[in-house]
Amino acid sequence: MDRLPGFRDFYPEPLPPTKDELWSMDARNHIFDSWRAVARRYGFREYEGPPLEPLELYTNKSGEEIVGQLFNFVDKGERAVAMRPEMTPTLARMAAAQERAYKKPFKWFSIPQLFRYEKQQKGRKREHFQLNCDIIGEHDRAADAELIALLIDTLRALGLTSADFVVRLSSRNAWSEFFASRCPDAAKAYDFFQIVDKLDRTRPEDSAALLAPLGFKLEEVQAFITGGQPNAELQLILDQLAARGLRDFVRVDYGVIRGLAYYTGPVFEAFDIKGEFRAICGGGRYDHLIKQVSGGKVDLPALGFGMGDVVLFELLKSRGLLPQFTAGLAVYVLIEDETLRADSLRLIQQLREAGLATEFSLTPTKGDKQFKRALELNAAHTVRLEKQADGSLAAKLKHLKSREESTLAPAEVVKRLVP
Ligand code: HAM
Repeated sequence: MDRLPGFRDFYPEPLPPTKDELWSMDARNHIFDSWRAVARRYGFREYEGPPLEPLELYTNKSGEEIVGQLFNFVDKGERAVAMRPEMTPTLARMAAAQERAYKKPFKWFSIPQLFRYEKQQKGRKREHFQLNCDIIGEHDRAADAELIALLIDTLRALGLTSADFVVRLSSRNAWSEFFASRCPDAAKAYDFFQIVDKLDRTRPEDSAALLAPLGFKLEEVQAFITGGQPNAELQLILDQLAARGLRDFVRVDYGVIRGLAYYTGPVFEAFDIKGEFRAICGGGRYDHLIKQVSGGKVDLPALGFGMGDVVLFELLKSRGLLPQFTAGLAVYVLIEDETLRADSLRLIQQLREAGLATEFSLTPTKGDKQFKRALELNAAHTVRLEKQADGSLAAKLKHLKSREESTLAPAEVVKRLVP
């Protein structure tokens, strides 16, 4: 039976040569470990929420596009539910419910698996993992700068540089002002943002036809994008990034507006410089979402970003930035004399209790086959017990890279490897 389209199996490396697209759990862990390490460096705390939520959490709040992609159904208790397509509404719900317990601003991160019934294409699946970093309870644009610095350092930690990616920074406020200066009907603003969001994916004549009823000409919208100078809020963010030495990673680009409905202030997306891939990451301010999700009970400003694993993995692979993954074994214990299996098991137990990744052959196997397996698994050392002429046991410890071998008492092996 095949897996569902758009879903992935994650295999341990090395991956078998196959025409099928295979994903590696080692690469996934590499990315997740790096994400966690950098988020913690910036003082973010990890949280998690349920993968299944009430359908209502998404309808009206996330925007039509994402609602049209929901995996939703009616559960056995007659509840309308949906697999989470994004984390932000869950975070807004959680933050509103417990905000009194946390000093503001609070900085939280999560790595949820998300589900969207998307048309399959490069960089788009029906499930993906997404690093979400959000700051709740801070109006100051210093928080926007902090978040963008974290986004940049997250990508740098994986080996990417300003020659590989750029953060395109924009402002919904600037767009709102532009909209209001020509169209008095504020209720139409979201329709307008949607058209702008899709400009580069839509034929110009179609965009022009959609803009006309709102009172806009395509040329003036394009001129606003190309002429875009940073407004005051973007300048504050740029200055703080410059002070951190991170200015080179950011470009003001009003072509970014973000498709999701809830964004309010500065918004941004990260792309590979060559433009080969879809957005690696997207985010911005959403100062009204918590109020909306809590039915007006809690009103807190918020901002955040989501970075997907799919595009990032493809980008790292194309730039040769994924390391060679191995089983990471410290010791392979060779059992060449079956009468020493019990003594070997005792040693194996000691090695593992000392925290060393240790492997051995579960069944009697020829010595050279065991050694070959140790090499295949890229073990750092082999250990072999030997009976001495006086009946005592000696351990032969071999460092596989240098081929250096030493003989020591079995009780000394752990001490030698864990000084
Ligand atoms: P988003 O732009 O919908 O934002 O997704 C963020 C990133 O997730 C995208 O740039 C892309 O890398 C990845 N992504 C999205 N959909 C897929 C898919 N079907 N397959 C593979 N990767 C995908 C959000 O989700 C916002 N909730 C982010 C956010 C957090 N805003 C504030 N806080």
